[in-house]
Amino acid sequence: MAYFYPDTAHTFNEYLLVPGYSSAECTPDRVSLKTPLVKYKKGEEPTISLNIPMVSAIMQSVSDDKMAVALATEGGMSFIYGSQTIEQEAAMVARVKDYKAGFVESDSNISPDMTLGDVVELKAESGHSTMPVTVDGSAHGKIVGIVTSRDYRLSRMSLDTKVKDFMTPREKLIVASKDTTLSEANDIIWDHRLNALPVVDEDDNLLSMVFRKDYDSHKENPNEMLDQHKRYMVGAGINTRDYEDRVPALLEAGVDVLCIDSSEGFTEWQKRTLKWIRDNYGDSVKVGAGNVVDSEGFRFLADCGADFVKVGIGGGSICITREQKGIGRGQASAVIDVAQARDKYFEETGVYVPVCSDGGIVFDNHMTLALAMGADFLMLGRYFARFDESPTARVNVNGSYMKEYWGEGSARARNWQRYDLGGKKKGLSFEEGVDSYVPYAGSLKENVAQTLTKMKATMCSCGAITIPEFQEKAKITLVSSTSIVEGGSHDVLLKDSVSTSAATYR
Ligand code: IMP
Repeated sequence: MAYFYPDTAHTFNEYLLVPGYSSAECTPDRVSLKTPLVKYKKGEEPTISLNIPMVSAIMQSVSDDKMAVALATEGGMSFIYGSQTIEQEAAMVARVKDYKAGFVESDSNISPDMTLGDVVELKAESGHSTMPVTVDGSAHGKIVGIVTSRDYRLSRMSLDTKVKDFMTPREKLIVASKDTTLSEANDIIWDHRLNALPVVDEDDNLLSMVFRKDYDSHKENPNEMLDQHKRYMVGAGINTRDYEDRVPALLEAGVDVLCIDSSEGFTEWQKRTLKWIRDNYGDSVKVGAGNVVDSEGFRFLADCGADFVKVGIGGGSICITREQKGIGRGQASAVIDVAQARDKYFEETGVYVPVCSDGGIVFDNHMTLALAMGADFLMLGRYFARFDESPTARVNVNGSYMKEYWGEGSARARNWQRYDLGGKKKGLSFEEGVDSYVPYAGSLKENVAQTLTKMKATMCSCGAITIPEFQEKAKITLVSSTSIVEGGSHDVLLKDSVSTSAATYR
């Protein structure tokens, strides 16, 4: 006879945290959100920890190299999507690893034969007043000069004037060589009172620019996720089919962590993938696995050698797996069950395998609840898809700005692999995800900062200044549907919903 779980499965929205005693030490500025990303032995430190407990979902509409740089800057990590060719995915990883914070590819370039009129036009278009002049007007051509707004007076000069006649020529330029570090570049900028410093190779070809204005912003990112060579850290999704080719290519590109991307992780295919990685690379390659929703699934993947285990089936915002296949489990119940299994595993084996709660986060407080329930970090799709840095188009829908967001199991992503159990044989496919819009929300930096402020405030209300302490001290209660209603504003008329004229005349 089938097994029946004794308890109803619940979602985050059905729980609340009950505040505990906060001592004077419990202030948001003292809170550390550092959390393990990969497994470690009792008494040892994990080889990789996140500085904030957030990773971005392995999805075409969420995690490309731009998102990865933005999130690593804030202390989290992106997992570049695997539903693309091996070459494309490896190239994205390589772009993150090659990205030098503060060294930007110039996007406003001109050639010496262009005119002042062209300069004015380009400035209006790009908003940049500093323009390197290269032989062919490209971003990496041989540098012959630079134009800034100090080089011309629009009221006195004809728009036909050639760039070569008013630019600051190469011989008067201070440039840096390609091995210059950011701090050396900034010293040069300060010593010579420059606004911009071109970086060139041995043949004087332009590589990048360092701008004075970026100096301060770089200093504002104390949480950056950097590897030992000070490059941004990045993860990447793999599948249970082409791993023998994909894994080496991603490692060659410099990937820091891999994750098997699948809607169901409790499978022989994941076991085989993990075994192949361990046989070929030992423990040096870090790889997460999933997704599972119960203790049995967790133990299976932990025993197979997963570095972390991802939890969640059917709770994602774009997910229709529960409707299509009737499988899944309320995300909160799944996290609670798996986190308990992780603690038991730690007690028995002395190995701590971090747990990632993946999908189903709607409000910021759900993230905090997931951590309180035992998750070590969270994977988010919809949350990040709303930001400037996500790869998708921003569109105006009926007067409101939206970003596109589609599931990996939607026809649009055409990533049927994630939704097969594995192996070569494929039956008829059906969709497990939708194509949608999410409200555009602006920059990642500002939104993440606000979310973390709330998270830290809640942790302080519960008397905790680290995530492990929070998990230890949190008191969590299930709430009735009536108290969920009580939790929002109620029995008042919101000003936003009353028209201004009505409010004025009453
Ligand atoms: P969200 O943060 O609620 O938007 O959920 C994101 C998560 O949903 C991802 O990390 C995946 O685990 C999962 N997911 C992505 N695409 C699909 C899909 O097409 N169907 C079902 N689940 C999906």
